[in-house]
Amino acid sequence: MTLQTSELNTQAVLAMKGAGYYSARTAGAKHAIDRVRPMLEDALQSLPQQAILRLADFGAADGGTSQEMWAGLIATLRANGDSRPIEMLYTDLASNDFSTLFRTMQGMHGDTAHAYQNSYENVFVHGCGTGFHQQLMADASLCLGFSATAMHYVSKKPCEIEDHVHMVGATPEERAQFSAQAAADWERILLARAAELAPGGRFICLNFGIDEKGRYLGHTGGQSMFDNFTRHWRAMRDGGRITKQEFIRATFAQHYRTVEEFTAPFDDPSSTVRQAGLKLISVETRLTPCPYNALYRGSSTKMSSADYAASLIPTTRSWSETVFRTALASRPEAEIQALLDAFYDDYEQQVAADPSGHAMDYIHILMAIEKQA
Ligand SMILES: C[S@@+](CC[C@H](N)C(=O)[O-])C[C@H]1O[C@@H](n2cnc3c(N)ncnc32)[C@H](O)[C@@H]1O
Repeated sequence: MTLQTSELNTQAVLAMKGAGYYSARTAGAKHAIDRVRPMLEDALQSLPQQAILRLADFGAADGGTSQEMWAGLIATLRANGDSRPIEMLYTDLASNDFSTLFRTMQGMHGDTAHAYQNSYENVFVHGCGTGFHQQLMADASLCLGFSATAMHYVSKKPCEIEDHVHMVGATPEERAQFSAQAAADWERILLARAAELAPGGRFICLNFGIDEKGRYLGHTGGQSMFDNFTRHWRAMRDGGRITKQEFIRATFAQHYRTVEEFTAPFDDPSSTVRQAGLKLISVETRLTPCPYNALYRGSSTKMSSADYAASLIPTTRSWSETVFRTALASRPEAEIQALLDAFYDDYEQQVAADPSGHAMDYIHILMAIEKQA
């Protein structure tokens, strides 16, 4: 299928559902972030001695999922006597709901207990709406960068996937194109961070990927979430509710890198990334269990399968809806809404009928990267 230029550029269509919907429905993402706090606490031990302590959260969405973690780190810094001014830079795409983010940090939305801007002097919250494939701040000015669950998005779709919605179900030829795009993007991301980081500064990231057992988001044994998205989207096509083109256009602009794909730029001493001064400190894979499934299985007052389905599907919807919405973009809004509701309802009914094997466990690749002094 031939892609138009506007379709190739994913920057305008990726944002999470706004008005706090993302954080409210994404407990798993917050758990994954809270669990990497020790890596960030470790980075605090050797922060660069800049006059201004600049921190950054790349691809932060509405900021809600990482708020407690950042509040905790700032508390540690101040408790350790570090009274430097802190500039906290939240980055995401221009289409992101930064308004909710700023209100959250000022205690006007979400969990006010962690509205750290209110609790500490000399902490300045900024936003940046430029994608993280570019350099976003001045050379050597960043002390600690962080990114969670964001860099699996490729900067542009290299092709549409004809018979699936995600690269995990693509043909080998389609998958190779996604792999090449993701490699070029990863190099750009790392070179941009290399320029921004002050010597000794760290970039800690956890990204969706494929682990050594071949597991990935929603595919950790049992059902495969992306196969189920495809199954219901295909049923809408086969039932005449959406067109063949709309079916194909619902291609996630994502690539789940393997550990080898993530570490490749660090393997060769002459690579651009190594030459730019970045060093890989650690890499590991981690499964964060689906909190909705844990609640369902552990519930003493037996949760019904319908209630479980009604808790699980909105979390998938919080980050996937824009893909299907974009595929339907030529239709009137009321029609789009009805089709999306029907699509997610179908999936919800599948889970309600037989919940076994349905869960959205997270698989992350965690990396600590340092700019050499
Ligand atoms: C799944 S959300 C993760 C949000 C948050 N970091 C978390 O872990 O809960 C992915 C975020 O990455 C953002 N994103 C995707 N591509 C981006 C890019 N090129 N530059 C900056 N942000 C991007 C999306 O807009 C979205 O807010």
